[in-house]
Amino acid sequence: MLTFKDYYNNEVTLSFEDHPFSKNPKHVWVICRYENHWLLTKHKERGIEFPGGKVEEGETAEEAAVREVDEETGGVVDDLVYIGQYHVAGKGGTIIKNIYFATIEKVIEKTTYYETEGPVWLEKLPERLKINSEYSFMMKDQVLPHSLKRVYMLAQFS
Ligand code: GTP
Repeated sequence: MLTFKDYYNNEVTLSFEDHPFSKNPKHVWVICRYENHWLLTKHKERGIEFPGGKVEEGETAEEAAVREVDEETGGVVDDLVYIGQYHVAGKGGTIIKNIYFATIEKVIEKTTYYETEGPVWLEKLPERLKINSEYSFMMKDQVLPHSLKRVYMLAQFS
């Protein structure tokens, strides 16, 4: 279990155990890999981030992960692996989010990407994300580097 502050100074607790905070989390975040690139989305307000969002009524977290990737990037998930879960104690309440790693089979161009401007492909993630105003606050705490370490343990990238 790792504890640190997020970009807004909220306390984050991150774990790579099997659903330590909730069996039915209401949020998902998906680290996507497509043809030797990272696949992200550009949120209209927050900036560039990996896709994700809220689990809808009647949906499992895995279904939400697949749907959010489709809606925000047009990416079709081929394989989805649970990585971990984090808990954010914010001023407005607590959120629990599952982190997944998805391998994307293809990206289909769409007419709308909801609250986002659609897919962003990156060969490399920038190094100093914290001071990069193009990137979302979600990319600026320790959740991303710790999760990427797990992703690298799972997958071999060229
Ligand atoms: P909408 O209802 O879609 O407008 O979302 P919202 O931003 O009002 O609420 P949401 O439930 O998505 O998130 C509530 C708060 O939790 C946000 O304002 C953030 O402060 C925090 N939060 C959500 N997701 C994350 C995350 O991935 N990381 C961190 N550190 N905080 C998050």
